[in-house]
Amino acid sequence: MFHSPFGPALSLLLGATLGSSLVACAARSAAEGAGAREATAAPAGPVTPPVGPSLAVKYAELFPIGAAVDPGSIQTHAPLLKQHFNSITLENEMKFESLEKTEGAFDFTLADSMVATAKSNGMGVRGHTLLWHRQTPAWVFSDASGAPASKQVLLARLKNHIDKVAGHFRGSIYAWDVVNEAIMDDGRYRTQDEPEEDQRSKWHGILGTSYIAEAFRFAHAADPQAKLFYNEYRNYIPVKRQAVYEMLKGLLADGVPVHGVGLQCHLNIEPSSVEGNHGQYQTVAELDKTIALYASLGLEVQVTELDLSVYVPGVKYAPEQYYTAATFTDAVEAKQAERYAAFFELFRKHASVITGVTFWGIADDNTWLSEFDSGRKDFPLLFDEQHAPKQAFERIMNF
Ligand code: XIL
Repeated sequence: MFHSPFGPALSLLLGATLGSSLVACAARSAAEGAGAREATAAPAGPVTPPVGPSLAVKYAELFPIGAAVDPGSIQTHAPLLKQHFNSITLENEMKFESLEKTEGAFDFTLADSMVATAKSNGMGVRGHTLLWHRQTPAWVFSDASGAPASKQVLLARLKNHIDKVAGHFRGSIYAWDVVNEAIMDDGRYRTQDEPEEDQRSKWHGILGTSYIAEAFRFAHAADPQAKLFYNEYRNYIPVKRQAVYEMLKGLLADGVPVHGVGLQCHLNIEPSSVEGNHGQYQTVAELDKTIALYASLGLEVQVTELDLSVYVPGVKYAPEQYYTAATFTDAVEAKQAERYAAFFELFRKHASVITGVTFWGIADDNTWLSEFDSGRKDFPLLFDEQHAPKQAFERIMNF
């Protein structure tokens, strides 16, 4: 029988009509895990299949549809979540600083309750993220005197963190973002010497590039069933795409357990026309090449953090030019919908390698893009501030 990570009722629902990609993916997991133990993300409760239009049902034969949630939205946006999504990612609650704020003091309370909500609704959970240069407490990188931690100490801390976290959630997570954002836009490894402070990686500073392979090995040992992903943004930039490819190829050649690549896909309403801006390359054609290149390594691809900002990269906006509910007109909404439709056409074309598409939020009243210090409001998701479907929703449902 089809063995989905998404709970019994949804398994039946999906299994009845399931096509190539999920079945193949499920068969792979079943074979790998045969005789070992229960499938990852064992079901916990009943699921009522949604009545009426549902994104997750519409895409059931292609790939799961996910949303990033926070402790508030998992409740306030529950009707939309249950209707349209069959996977969640916790927006911040599984990051290093959320789970191990001080050394050895793990707190899983909040993440556990969110995972339980997902399970009781038959949803799968993506784990995000075991290693990142951001949202990691300072203690991780220093010794008792405040000097940089030694290689041995940092590696032991990384191992312990991954053992405990991936071990704790074993059986509940179908895919982990193991390493997040290790490559810069120009294709270099991210180092501790980047000009902007919030871009620096102390993982690299102390361990060099070896931390990447180590993290994947630790994660696989802690949860052999979970699919392990390398997650990255702006993968449409040719030089960055190539650097990520070379890195992954090397990891695979060394036998490192990496199973997929996450494309964050924080997109914009149009590509940039500014020479040298990353957004110049933000086109369907470039992303097409990216997906094909990673797939050529035999890796799965997941879109992990999709949203589509109404602002154009490289353009400086004065506060009076910020969009408001009044200036986010039907025409702007239609343009955004057109671009969403084009990218979804691409995702469907690659459904044999794309094993998930997750939005970074649910509705426009709760998006990280409206939470920057500038106060600039954005409208990047499929549902509006009142939770009504936008034109983009209609466009991607219509195929
Ligand atoms: C963001 C969250 O959405 C914010 O709430 C938080 O303040 C910062 O992190 N790439 C990632 C995500 O991999 O973890 C980030 O999430 C968005 C960019």
